[in-house]
Amino acid sequence: MPMKLQYHSALFFGYKDERRFIDIVRTLLLSLKTVQGTFTGDNLITLDKNLSFLTDQKFMSAFEKHAQTKIEKGIIWRTAVLAWAAQSGLRLEGDFVECACYKGVSARIVCDYLDFGSKPKGYYLYDLFAHDPAMPHHAMTEHGDGLYDQVRSRFSDLPNVTVTRGQAPESFAVAAPNRIAFMHIDMNNAEAETAVLEALFDRMTPGAVLILDDYGWLYYRNQKLAHDRWFAERGYAVLELPTGQGMVIR
Ligand SMILES: C[S@@+](CC[C@H](N)C(=O)[O-])C[C@H]1O[C@@H](n2cnc3c(N)ncnc32)[C@H](O)[C@@H]1O
Repeated sequence: MPMKLQYHSALFFGYKDERRFIDIVRTLLLSLKTVQGTFTGDNLITLDKNLSFLTDQKFMSAFEKHAQTKIEKGIIWRTAVLAWAAQSGLRLEGDFVECACYKGVSARIVCDYLDFGSKPKGYYLYDLFAHDPAMPHHAMTEHGDGLYDQVRSRFSDLPNVTVTRGQAPESFAVAAPNRIAFMHIDMNNAEAETAVLEALFDRMTPGAVLILDDYGWLYYRNQKLAHDRWFAERGYAVLELPTGQGMVIR
C-alpha cells in the first residue's frame, strides 16, 4: 500500500490529563501491526479504515489551504462530510446555507472543493460574529468587532457567496434563498436551531442533505433531544454519524 492512509490530530475534548491521554493514544497506535487506516482526533479513534478524504486531492488541497488552527485541522472528517453533502447538492435545485459560519473556514473549504464561484448557485452564510452573553450558546475565541469584515474578505472573490450578520432566523429577512440544496446548521443553541429549521427546512429540495454539527455530542445533548422531537413530528429521523454530526435527507 504505497499511500500514507492515516491522519493524526491531538484534538480531543473532555480529557482530565491531556498529556497522559495523548501518550495512551500513541501507545495504542504503536501496539498495532500497521498504522495504515488509523485516524485519531475530534474524539474519534478508528482503525483499518479507508479514510477516503485523504486520497481526494481536491479536498485535501482546499483543506490544507484553509484549515489553520488545531481545531480546524482536527475536524477534517467533519469537514469531509460537509464537502460530500454540498457536492451532493450540486445536482439539485437550490442554494447552499450555513447557520452559522463563524470564521467561514468550512464554507471556504467547500467553495474551493466545488469551484463554487463557477456554479449557478448562491451560498448564504449567517452569524452574529460577536458574542452576546445574553444568548445561551458559548463564545468563540475570534468573536469580535472585526470578524464580520474578515469573513466577507475571505469570500470577496466569490460574488455568489452572501454573508449576513445578525441573529438567525430574524436575519433571513435580509437575505435567504427560496430553495435549498444543502444546509449546515452549527449554532450550539437548540432554540435558535429549531427556529432555523422552522424557517428553512421546508425550503430544502427533496434529496438535499442537512448536516447538524452538534447532534451527536453528549455535551450538546439538549440539541439532539430538541431535533429528535422536531423531526419525529414530521416523520423524519436524524442519523447520528461517528463524527458527532447528525444527518437528514429532505
Ligand atoms: C461553532 S460556531 C460555527 C462554526 C462554523 N460552522 C464552522 O464550520 O467553522 C457557532 C456559531 O453560531 C453562531 N450563532 C449562535 N446563535 C446564532 C444565531 N441565533 N444567529 C446567528 N448566529 C448564531 C455563533 O455566533 C457562533 O459563531
